Amino acid sequence: MPSSDIVARSSRFFPDQNVMTLHFDILTIFPAVFPGLLEESILGRARRAGLYDVHFTDIRDFARDAHRSVDDRPYGGGPGMVFKPEPVFEAVESVLATPRASEEATQKIILTPQGRRLEQRDLRRLSSAEWIILLCGHYEGFDERILEGLGFEAVSIGDYVLSGGEVPAMVLLDGIVRLLPGAVGHPESTTYESFETRTLDFPQYTRPPEYRGMKVPEVLLSGNHAEIARWREREALRTTREFRSDLLTGSEGSRGQDDSWEAGN
Ligand code: ADE
Repeated sequence: MPSSDIVARSSRFFPDQNVMTLHFDILTIFPAVFPGLLEESILGRARRAGLYDVHFTDIRDFARDAHRSVDDRPYGGGPGMVFKPEPVFEAVESVLATPRASEEATQKIILTPQGRRLEQRDLRRLSSAEWIILLCGHYEGFDERILEGLGFEAVSIGDYVLSGGEVPAMVLLDGIVRLLPGAVGHPESTTYESFETRTLDFPQYTRPPEYRGMKVPEVLLSGNHAEIARWREREALRTTREFRSDLLTGSEGSRGQDDSWEAGN
């Protein structure tokens, strides 16, 4: 492919609507589980506005036998099946053969519970990419040569095991798209929310002022913005201390405060 073609494809500028488009490629054996998510709410509006697009590759299309099998028994024995290297490598290579952005603007991620745990700051960093490739696993995991040979960043969405990488891919997609400029009505609503500030959100209320005997705190009805800001700060700290004290001490799990994974670097 001529380099001018690559440059043209790499642009996130959408000439008709004057917006940038972030391209996603999702490699999966279950592409049919995604469409509903992409139609509704913020993800639906942002996609229709051209802020992002998604291309799916069915890894089974790269299977070599009549049963379209992409998994096999693990060497050494044990329960479950493992993703075979051949269809996964070939599916990835088919996606990489038509680049949608420059190498530097591309993030290649494999979803697996064996990866680094995803945090809000990772989503913020990923939201400035131009092309994000998400590889979803299934079964008991990937043949290790897939992790070793493809050079993708292994990312986990949390310390629990799901049946596959599709829901984790949706989590990434949703978390990234809502940070794109223009995706949510009030950009500040993504800047001051939980985890951006390393505290949980303060409690929110709307009308009516009293419901089933439960009252909205007086200060929120007072119109005193300085008092309201102080109350919110205190409450955010209180809930964080109660439910996620690790966020305040930076002692959470395997990741310290400055320990961010740098996909692609
Ligand atoms: N696949 C299965 N469980 C997962 C997790 N927690 N994170 C990412 N991918 C997964």
